This record gives sequence, structure tokens and C-alpha cells, in this order.
Amino acid sequence: MSWIKPRRRHPAAGYAVLLLGLVIIGVAYAALAGPGGAASAATPGGPSQQDIAKGRALFAVSCASCHGMYAQGTSSAPSLIGVGSAAVDFQVSTGRMPGKELAAEMPRKPVTFTQAEIHQLAAYVASLGGGPTIPTGAQVSTAGADVALGQQLFITDCAQCHNFAGAGGALTYGKSAPSLTRSTPTQIYEAMLTGPESMPVFSDTTITPQQKRDIIAYVTETRAEPNPGGFSLGRIGPVTEGLVAFLGGIAALVFAAMWLTMKRREA
Ligand code: HEC
Ligand code: HEC
Repeated sequence: MSWIKPRRRHPAAGYAVLLLGLVIIGVAYAALAGPGGAASAATPGGPSQQDIAKGRALFAVSCASCHGMYAQGTSSAPSLIGVGSAAVDFQVSTGRMPGKELAAEMPRKPVTFTQAEIHQLAAYVASLGGGPTIPTGAQVSTAGADVALGQQLFITDCAQCHNFAGAGGALTYGKSAPSLTRSTPTQIYEAMLTGPESMPVFSDTTITPQQKRDIIAYVTETRAEPNPGGFSLGRIGPVTEGLVAFLGGIAALVFAAMWLTMKRREA
């Protein structure tokens, strides 16, 4: 650090420290805000033939009895050709599938497959053609999302079924729709893309991908249960994170200023 000595009392030294402080705040904030928590991302580069083959085997054992050997549908369950990997991931990861009678209530049940198996099942069904795909981590990231806009959209498009219990309150059971307190960002995105049971499909033209992330941010950041994905400081949202980063930055600047004056007294 000897190179810094002659420069320390240079009039620009204070500014240099200030600049350094700002850079540190920036880096710290970027690290805090981060790219949200991706609960379950699709396999990068798409599923392999091996995944599809494993998925087909799992399907034959656990799903074919209702959906048919080729997922073509039977009198007791619909065809899955064209529903896409997002529908399979949603149905199986929330514990809705396998099982249930047609048009019965579909509450969450314990999940009976590992995440890898769910992705294999999804890869098999997707290989039959078409349908929305499992969103990637970036697609469901709530970093930089507009929570206030998400709340407005939720009130307009979702609250008539999934009750709205006031800003910051818990989202409770609606008349006929389930609570969203346990849904991960990926599951919320998939529900909008696939419209399970009586829920409508919200295509990317009805609710844009960015608006979907705003809704996810609102749902996951205002509820009373632990946030399953992403970083949250007591769930008070991005404002608090900004404030914490700001105060941390100020502290760094104060220490830098103290260091400068201390050295000056020494000299
Ligand atoms: C006991 C019968 C049964 C079994 C076993 C079963 N399903 Fe289903 N599944 C149904 C019924 C019935 C529906 C239709 C639900 C509705 O629309 O109310 C359905 C719906 C679905 C849907 C939603 C389709 C859509 O249009 O979005 C997916 C995806 C699905 N099942 C996947 C699976 C997978 C994967 C398995 C195996 C792990 C499986 N199911 C096992 C009966 C079954
Ligand atoms: C017409 C009523 C209706 C509307 C509007 C609606 N939903 Fe749903 N939603 C449902 C029903 C019914 C289910 C349960 C489906 C099932 O069990 O198969 C559901 C399920 C869900 C789930 C899965 C919950 C779980 O178990 O994790 C999520 C997430 C969800 N909806 C999000 C939304 C969002 C976000 C919106 C607004 C963009 C919305 N819904 C609008 C009726 C609705």
C-alpha cells in the first residue's frame, strides 16, 4: 500500500474513496438483488433421448392406467398429447398427479417423484408434441420486478378466484381456487401458462412474460409463508433491500473517511 501514501493527501483522494464506496454499494446491491431463486429450471440444452426414455418408462408404470399407454387419453383421463412439459411439471410437482377422478377437486398431495423424474416425465410428454415448456430460472426471476404492478394485475386477473386479503396479507383460500401460499415461482408461471382445471390460460399476449414475473413477485413477496425462492429480507421487499444496501454503503464511506483522517493525524 506504499504507493498510495504520496497520493493520499491529493485533493482527488476523497473523490476516489467516494467512487470506490459507490462501486462497492453497486456490487453489493447486485449481489443482494441477484437473479432471484429459480426453484426448478428446465435442463439446459433441452432433454436428452435418455430422459425421454426414462420418462416413458415412468409414465407406463404411474400414468398409463388413466391416460393410456401412449398418453392418448381414456374414458377416465384426458389425452396429454400437446399439453407440454409445463403442464406435467405443474401437475406432478404440486402433487396433483398421479391420480384423481375426472372433474373432482384436485388438492395438493405429497409429491411422489424426484425433481429429476418429474423432468423425465415432462420430457416424454413434451416429445409427443407441442405445448408450453417448463420456464427457465431467468423466466421466473423476480429480480427487478414491479410488485405494485403485480398487485394490480393480481386484483384484476386472479383475485376473483384466489381471494385477495389486502396488501401484505396472506393469500387465503378462495371460494373454489386453492391458496397460493406454497406455490413456487415456477409453479405460478406454469399455472398461468397451462390453466389447470377451471383456471383460464393466461397466454403471453394476455399477460406478458414481464407481467407474469410482476405477479409472481407480488404473490411470493406478500404472503405470510416462507419465500421458497429468491432472497428476501423479512419479505418486506426490494425497498428494504435497497435501504440495507444504502446503509451498508454509507457505513463503508464513513469507515473510509475515518481511515483517511486517521492516517493524516499520524503524519
Ligand atoms: C387415477 C387416474 C390418473 C392417473 C394415475 C394420472 N392422471 Fe393425470 N389426470 C387425470 C385426470 C382425471 C385429469 C383431468 C383433470 C381435470 O381436468 O379435472 C388429469 C390431468 C392431467 C394433466 C393436465 C392435463 C392438461 O390438460 O393440462 C397432466 C399434465 C397429467 N394429468 C399428468 C399425469 C402424469 C404425468 C401422471 C403420472 C405421473 C398422471 N397424470 C397420472 C387422471 C390421472
Ligand atoms: C376462474 C378462476 C381462476 C382464476 C381467474 C385464476 N385461477 Fe389460479 N386456479 C384456479 C383453480 C380452480 C385452481 C386449481 C386447479 C386444480 O387444482 O387443478 C388454480 C390453481 C392455481 C395455482 C396452483 C396452486 C398450487 O397448488 O400451488 C396457481 C399458482 C394459480 N392458480 C395462480 C393463478 C394466478 C397467478 C392467476 C391470475 C393471473 C390465477 N391463478 C387466476 C382458478 C383460477
